[in-house]
Amino acid sequence: MSSVNATIVADPAASCDTDLAKGPWNFDLAPGYGPGASEYDVIPDPTVRPGQLPVEYQRASEEDLHRRISAAKKALGSKLVILGHFYQRDEVVQYADFVGDSFQLANAALTMPEAETIVFCGVHFMAETADILAREGQKVILPNLAAGCSMADMADIDSVTACWEDLEALYGTEPDADGKVPVIPVTYMNSSAALKAFCGEHGGIVCTSSNAATVLEWAFERGQRVLFFPDQHLGRNTAKAMGISVDDMPMWNPRKPLGGNSGDDLLSAKVLLWHGFCSVHKRFNVAQIEKARIDFPGVRVIVHPECPMPVVDAADEAGSTDYIRKAIEAAPPGATFAIGTEVNMVNRLQAEHPEHTIFCLDPVVCPCSTMYRIHPGYLAWTLEGLVNGEVHNQIIVEPRIAEHAKVALERMLAALPKPIAKGDPHD
Ligand code: 13P
Ligand code: SF4
Repeated sequence: MSSVNATIVADPAASCDTDLAKGPWNFDLAPGYGPGASEYDVIPDPTVRPGQLPVEYQRASEEDLHRRISAAKKALGSKLVILGHFYQRDEVVQYADFVGDSFQLANAALTMPEAETIVFCGVHFMAETADILAREGQKVILPNLAAGCSMADMADIDSVTACWEDLEALYGTEPDADGKVPVIPVTYMNSSAALKAFCGEHGGIVCTSSNAATVLEWAFERGQRVLFFPDQHLGRNTAKAMGISVDDMPMWNPRKPLGGNSGDDLLSAKVLLWHGFCSVHKRFNVAQIEKARIDFPGVRVIVHPECPMPVVDAADEAGSTDYIRKAIEAAPPGATFAIGTEVNMVNRLQAEHPEHTIFCLDPVVCPCSTMYRIHPGYLAWTLEGLVNGEVHNQIIVEPRIAEHAKVALERMLAALPKPIAKGDPHD
């Protein structure tokens, strides 16, 4: 019963969304999920729409799926590599050849040219990135096309282009006396390939939560200010730790004229923050941290920088998923950690480190509901398809978009991870 899946099935009321307990095939048919991010990707045939997985996979028992996945993996051998994000459920992570954060998975995709196919057990924007970085002829598969990211879908290319036109009208396009352009676009990895391409075409860059500080330094060497999308929290937390005042970080709401700002606010801005957020990380709050400190005196509180600023301020440290993992690994036995990130990862850390006490700050079970859509049934279906010479759910980024997105991604890969707040397990 240690897996999040088993907990949700046993007690739907213990989770943040009772829809999660509906069962994967019905859950996929529910409205309100991504990936809007796939708007410009080519959708190849045959593509099974969510909820249309052949019934033999829907009806298969856990044991049967395990046997079929293991057999297909063995048959495919080194032609296949399975990548899994830290937030992926245990039932799927057990088959991954490499588990990591977004930055590491982007690198992993690059360093496995011998594999013919990368099956990405993460979310849509991660698979798109792998396709952009993959070598010619390498295929990337996302086992369930409904595994999007609600945050990534909060910024789309039309709204960002409209914002950019407004900013150009206000700031002009000429560099200042130091050669710095008026504004540099920075997109979080959690965004569509089209937005990464926008950054590549406009002198910008991609960041992940592990290298956001390095990326902002890169941007301020080249520009007077930054337009950061889609995650307001990562942008705010990172810029604040660099000494930028929150007063100089207006929010851009794409539904309002000039993003809801006055021209003067925009002229004095250092960082323009897009109105986006992660629904998992916005659940963390300061009261949870205060309670953890009362219940566990001496507890070390580490949160992901997608959490709201007051939460990051109240924590001891903030860092990417890999930062959190390394901090726990480096601690002497007997430490207590309260973690503010996705629950699958926190539970796994707890299981891997019985020498520590590790718990999630949020008492409610709240997995990343889109990553959760990669059920073993989808994995079995895609792997058995490959064994039979059929490619299901391939992610294909349009070449014109991929070309520009690659420019921004290569800039990102050169920007090494660096902590946002205190402590540095990367050293
Ligand atoms: P990391 O880059 O830390 O892996 O985070 C990815 C993510 O989606 C967090 O919500
Ligand atoms: Fe997107 Fe949040 Fe899930 Fe990360 S945890 S993939 S930001 S919805």
